[in-house]
Amino acid sequence: MSIDGAMKAVIPAAGLGTRFLPATKVIPKEMVPILDKPAIQYVVEEAIKEGIEDILIITSRWKHSIVDHFDRSLELEYYLKEKDKDEHFHQVMDIGNMARIHYIRQKVPRGLGDALLHAKDYVGDEPFTVLLPDDIIVSDRPAIGQLMDVHRSTGGPVVALEHVPKDRISRYGVASAKRTGERTHRILDVVEKPPAEEAPSDLALIGRYVLPCEIFEAFEDIEPGYGGEIQLSDAIRYLLDDMDFTGYEFEGKRYDVGNVPGWLEANVEMALHNGQYSDIARDLIVRLHADL
Ligand code: UTP
Repeated sequence: MSIDGAMKAVIPAAGLGTRFLPATKVIPKEMVPILDKPAIQYVVEEAIKEGIEDILIITSRWKHSIVDHFDRSLELEYYLKEKDKDEHFHQVMDIGNMARIHYIRQKVPRGLGDALLHAKDYVGDEPFTVLLPDDIIVSDRPAIGQLMDVHRSTGGPVVALEHVPKDRISRYGVASAKRTGERTHRILDVVEKPPAEEAPSDLALIGRYVLPCEIFEAFEDIEPGYGGEIQLSDAIRYLLDDMDFTGYEFEGKRYDVGNVPGWLEANVEMALHNGQYSDIARDLIVRLHADL
């Protein structure tokens, strides 16, 4: 826990983002905007809404712009103030003051598990939350808060689950699970990116977790798995003999913004529900539809 007793959050953002090349050759995929905000800002805001103010972002050598985005920008602030652009001035100031954000670099992209292992000293011996910036979730109650509620009632780790169609299931960690409630499951096993015909269910692990600190020992003990990388799914599987993991089917709409189709869907749908852009988006869709 952080000094004020709230849970800490870890946001891994050191992946190469190959599914979004060539955009991500130079721009980190976490900085690709959905409407007017970079993806990573959505997950930082999600954590903050749930009272998390202490956040570690796992970054890498070429991702300076993530650090810059959450820093102050004195020149820009000065310019916006001078020009009486108050709304933009406050927007820019607010981003710079969002939370206590810490950074550590993953030197080689050896997988999500390896990235998370870099959070070991920061986290200490308490449960912690993980939010993957690839998964933007639009919901009344932030998805990470829904998982934290489950954690408060069970005392144990929680993973977010979503039913995924068979033709896409092989892109995910997939759970074998026993239903225990309307939205809850007991996780029996987890397989990383199984071929569709070998997937144990259609329940995919989505990028929100409340993890136990024992996960770090698991990362250290397990061998590289799928793709030669240290996988979070394998570490969860490793711990299942010793502790119960709850799977939770969160309420909300999730977009995988780490690839173009998901990013496109997020932009269109979120524009339709955004006060500033909804009319423009609707008019555009009607016009394009008429042309089809
Ligand atoms: P992905 O599986 O989406 O990998 O990572 P990726 O490399 O970023 O993207 P693609 O598949 O090449 O397009 C899931 C999360 O884990 C982080 C990513 O930044 C993302 O938030 N990650 C992945 C790391 O931090 N380090 C890694 O070595 C791998």
